[in-house]
Amino acid sequence: MSKVAVVTGAARGIGLATAKQFLAKGWSVALIDWDQAELDLACGELGSEAQGFHCDVSDEVQVQAMIAAVLARFGRLDALVNNAGVAEFGPIEDCDFATWKRVMATNLDGPFLCTQAAVPALKEHGGAVLNIASISGLRASTLRVAYGTSKAAVIQLTKQQAAELGEYGIRANCVCPGPVRTKLAMAVHSPEIIAAYHDAIPLNRYGSEDEIANLITFLCSEEASYITGQVVAADGGFESTGVGLPALRE
Ligand SMILES: NC(=O)c1ccc[n+]([C@@H]2O[C@H](COP(=O)([O-])OP(=O)(O)OC[C@H]3O[C@@H](n4cnc5c(N)ncnc54)[C@H](O)[C@@H]3O)[C@@H](O)[C@H]2O)c1
Repeated sequence: MSKVAVVTGAARGIGLATAKQFLAKGWSVALIDWDQAELDLACGELGSEAQGFHCDVSDEVQVQAMIAAVLARFGRLDALVNNAGVAEFGPIEDCDFATWKRVMATNLDGPFLCTQAAVPALKEHGGAVLNIASISGLRASTLRVAYGTSKAAVIQLTKQQAAELGEYGIRANCVCPGPVRTKLAMAVHSPEIIAAYHDAIPLNRYGSEDEIANLITFLCSEEASYITGQVVAADGGFESTGVGLPALRE
């Protein structure tokens, strides 16, 4: 019986690339998204070992029903990738409470709810939880009061999950992507922000969806069987370096 991954926010971007990599490695994949049209489009070309499930990851009732539906379809669960995320950037004074709650609902409540619902099934075979945070959760920056705080909380959530779930053979790790040209990023990255990222990233470029998915699928695999509680950035060197002034480049 093939292994089964649940990937949230899988209709496009990093989540879709991750789903495709799992499929290429012989896993079955449940693609979770609240955008039914994009989900249908994505699943249309993925074959019989992939199935889309409509779900808002911030809704407890929908999440419980989604995990039950995945188990009814695939019979087991080996990896949960909490990838669904939203980005809304703006100054602290303009971040109204509704915006704050909207960002927290998907980015933080989602991984909490999905993991809680998945734990009974993950316990059966000793599975993996993989949370997607961001370099914005590792280093503070302007305009990200809600987004950055939600992602920093996801990093701590991962460590809490690793601490408690290890005794059931469940590993929990966190991937912090650097900038990738997805719909999410392009909606909030102005030309000035793109140029600033290039200056601050030693590899001097954005990453690709597949470069992030490579790390996600590795951390969910048997090759990473003794790795848990870790926070790994796939970010072209952004997190480890401090000075990226254009004037200091060769
Ligand atoms: N792209 C980047 O530069 C970047 C950088 C760091 C971190 N990330 C993180 O990577 C993850 C994936 O981002 P992406 O760039 O691929 O974004 P994306 O917008 O291309 O894809 C995100 C998907 O999540 C879905 N989604 C959003 N909220 C949802 C909800 N409540 N329930 C179900 N589905 C929902 C969207 O419909 C979409 O299909 C996010 O958590 C994001 O914060 C992205």
